[in-house]
Amino acid sequence: MSETEFPVQIPLAVSKTSSESLQNQICIQLRERVADGRLKLGTRLTSIREMAAQLDVSLNTVRLAYQQLISEGYLETSEAKGTYVARALPEEGVYLPEAKEAEPNPDRHTARFPPPFRDPGRIIARQRPQNGAIDFWAGRTDPRSFPVREWRHLTNVHLQDSDANMTDYGDAAGLWELREAIADHLARARSFRPGPEQIVITAGIQEALSIAARLFLKPGATAVMEAPCYKGASYAFQSVGAELQRVAVDEEGVCVERIPAGPAALTYITPSHQYPMGHILSMSRRHALLEWAARSGAYILEDDYDSDFRFQSSPLPALASMDTSGCVIYLGTFSKVMGAGLRLGYMVLPPELVDMAASIKTLFSFSHPWLVQVVMADFIDSGDYAKRLRRMRQDRMQRRDSLHRALQHHFGDVTLRGLSGGMHVVWHLPQEMPSSLALQQAAEPLGIYVYSPEASGADVSGCEALNERLLVFGYASLSNEEIWKGIRGLASTTTRATSDDRPHQETVPRS
Ligand SMILES: Cc1ncc(COP(=O)(O)O)c(C=O)c1O
Repeated sequence: MSETEFPVQIPLAVSKTSSESLQNQICIQLRERVADGRLKLGTRLTSIREMAAQLDVSLNTVRLAYQQLISEGYLETSEAKGTYVARALPEEGVYLPEAKEAEPNPDRHTARFPPPFRDPGRIIARQRPQNGAIDFWAGRTDPRSFPVREWRHLTNVHLQDSDANMTDYGDAAGLWELREAIADHLARARSFRPGPEQIVITAGIQEALSIAARLFLKPGATAVMEAPCYKGASYAFQSVGAELQRVAVDEEGVCVERIPAGPAALTYITPSHQYPMGHILSMSRRHALLEWAARSGAYILEDDYDSDFRFQSSPLPALASMDTSGCVIYLGTFSKVMGAGLRLGYMVLPPELVDMAASIKTLFSFSHPWLVQVVMADFIDSGDYAKRLRRMRQDRMQRRDSLHRALQHHFGDVTLRGLSGGMHVVWHLPQEMPSSLALQQAAEPLGIYVYSPEASGADVSGCEALNERLLVFGYASLSNEEIWKGIRGLASTTTRATSDDRPHQETVPRS
């Protein structure tokens, strides 16, 4: 039914002590609302009786006001149905209220810790480019592969039987069935089995980071970060007043031995696939990091955002699986396997922190939406998730290989990092190539979007020079043809490009 079919209650207010008549007050307010668009054309108004009761005025006052506005052309009436805002306004004589500029009040407090950015596009993906544009944004899954049929089926099944779940708040820590399903998944995929009671469901890793910031950080506290690192983390920590201490990464991941001595509240790291560089934290560094945490009393936030995609046989164990001192908080997400639009992630905490984390989740949103949790739990329990993972691993490996081949074909011997897993690789540009920013700008008019680490959501403070020589390529949402077309277009912007764009079939080296 269209919105005009239901009468709307309009929040008018009249003053019985005003020098303006009650009838006029109603007319002025209705005219204003029609003219500035708050009341859409064709909207059905409440009846004279209801409006009179709402404003505590006589029926006649409202009747006369409505009649006045009908005669001016603002309202229309239909015998059978009631009074409407006119479907076309009178061309002349529409009363337009003067636009009021809000006056900034210098005495008003600004936020105590304003977010360190004003543009959400600085962390999360820009809008998906339209009209055949090719976007190498890292970390985006292919919408064409979302399991719509299975998801719709499970959603329907659970809606049939939803009882009070759609109307009541749920457990702040999350739906028990989903926590159990995640515990089982981690036991299979990451070789550690937390109790379901250690898991708190969050709106993606991003909310888990904000919860961790509230749990462990206060103004002036130290958070040790990889350099470069994921902006979503550094911004979350800065927004509660933390000081960031940045530690370089090399081929073995974060240089643990370079973490300065001194108190630190936490360290945030991406050991399975360093963001954005793609390195895997070596086993010796894993041990060293855990020893550092045990010594310093700091917590480790292990962001395992894309670890479901390992292209080599035996991934290194998660830090959480090696933790003997209860210092690791493991962060997982369904954004990369299912899609970021679900906003579904989780944190695995030492038992003594679970209630506190759930309490902070309560302050953010009381609890996570039930329907998405119960459907996800079933999707895992039915085996569909494991099947999807197997299929996607294969598929992503092929897309990665396509990208590698296309880059080699057009640019020769390229040096890529991060080939062993995940959804993105990093190309270290040879000296003779233009900078990452220049390439980004040259490709954009062709509808090809490539990104420097900074532009793809990495915090590059302290490694700005590196930023100029790297391009981050996400490949998970692009088909083979799109990848080749995109790299061909990129090549056409540089003098190093070859003119022959036939795909060649050489074997792609694995890292
Ligand atoms: C390293 C890293 N961590 C966390 C996230 C956020 O994931 P979520 O969608 O679960 O909030 C991303 C997003 O791309 C990421 O790249």
